[in-house]
Amino acid sequence: GLKVATIGGGSSYTPELIEGFIKRFDELPIKELWLVDIEAGKEKLEIVGTLARRMVKKAGVPMEIHLTLDRRQALKNADFVTTQMRVGLLDARVKDERIPLELGLIGQETNGAGGLFKGLRTIPVLLEIAEEMQELCPDAWLINFTNPAGMVTEALLRYSSHKKVIGVCNVPFNMHMSISKMMGVDRESVHIDFAGLNHMVFGIHVYIDDREVTDEVLEMLANPEIQLTMKNIAPLPWNRRFLKSLGVVPCPYHRYYYKTKTILEEELAAFKSGQTRAEIVKTLEEGLFDLYKDETLAVKPPQLEQRGGAYYSDAACNVISSIYNDKKDIQVLNVQNKGALAEVDFDSAVEVSCIVTKNGPIPLTMGKLPVPILGLIQQIKSFERIGAEAAVTGSYDKALLALTINPLIPSDDLAEEVLQKLLKAHEEYLPQF
Ligand code: G6P
Ligand code: MN
Repeated sequence: GLKVATIGGGSSYTPELIEGFIKRFDELPIKELWLVDIEAGKEKLEIVGTLARRMVKKAGVPMEIHLTLDRRQALKNADFVTTQMRVGLLDARVKDERIPLELGLIGQETNGAGGLFKGLRTIPVLLEIAEEMQELCPDAWLINFTNPAGMVTEALLRYSSHKKVIGVCNVPFNMHMSISKMMGVDRESVHIDFAGLNHMVFGIHVYIDDREVTDEVLEMLANPEIQLTMKNIAPLPWNRRFLKSLGVVPCPYHRYYYKTKTILEEELAAFKSGQTRAEIVKTLEEGLFDLYKDETLAVKPPQLEQRGGAYYSDAACNVISSIYNDKKDIQVLNVQNKGALAEVDFDSAVEVSCIVTKNGPIPLTMGKLPVPILGLIQQIKSFERIGAEAAVTGSYDKALLALTINPLIPSDDLAEEVLQKLLKAHEEYLPQF
């Protein structure tokens, strides 16, 4: 029987994943699901694990749910390993958002200074997990959801001996769903060529059946009434002429780069009222765990959809099922480029449409990137690469370099100031520095 291990199993998102596995049980018969957490997450693991057991019981699905703090036991002979942990928990995210904002910089968990620090905390832990996998389940795929998924995948591909690694994000999946809905057609008839990086992905071409509709999609998206976004990003409308001239569909996160000033103003207002995204999420989480404790609850509660990661389980479970069943369908994943994007380093991680086979995802060749988006993608790739190197080496200078070349940080000295503050604030989780 199939064995899946989920690291960070005590996450409030776990019911999402359980729902995904239940829905697909016929095609993906998981016998054992091991939810793993650390001592500090023990209580949450117990609560969410008990809900998971009620969910499978109610669905009549014979999937065993194991709860453990022993990661090695969970990894032993696993077929798939998913990672969704948050090093330093939400308190660390609050710092990633608030400290840059104190200095007038974007404060976001995957972009800019906050994104770098989430990477610095996360990468060493994921490398450790990947090495354990190489020992305990060398054939298993590591499916990572932990952010910053782009920088993390980059680090795993470059520095780990375990190479079966895939980064997953719900952004392209959600864009596909929203665009289909907006165009009034079903999902199956829409095809989008996705290319870029995690939280920096573009829909290069959109097709309905055989007809290219990219311009029509842009025309609709230029309507301020129609905002393609996620729960965690303010639905600020695009400048119409800009969007049409860009010629490709940006993802919701591109607002940080193309509307920096506007989004910073929004964030500063939230910061002043003590309502940064991390703080909102903390409250949402408390509410979710209260619900999860209710012994009559045996499904994923709709309140979970208030989180930006809503529906991520579809993206995650689809990739697992397609590998297991050799489906050869198309999914958008973070994988080694291998020439799919002509101007990005061959060995780097990219987020791109892939064919998913039993041997893993094969990235589809997208060729040259359109000129208007090429520079930004390359710049962020450099940021991710240098950030990953800083995470592995603990080099202060590499961290400073990563921050200074990031388009969201407008000065070298300011970069150093935010670097010093964040290093101090996160000291406990940065043993490499
Ligand atoms: C989106 C991103 C995820 C991210 C989430 C944040 O879904 O794709 O990578 O974790 O938003 O949502 P939150 O509710 O935690 O702000
Ligand atoms: Mn994501």
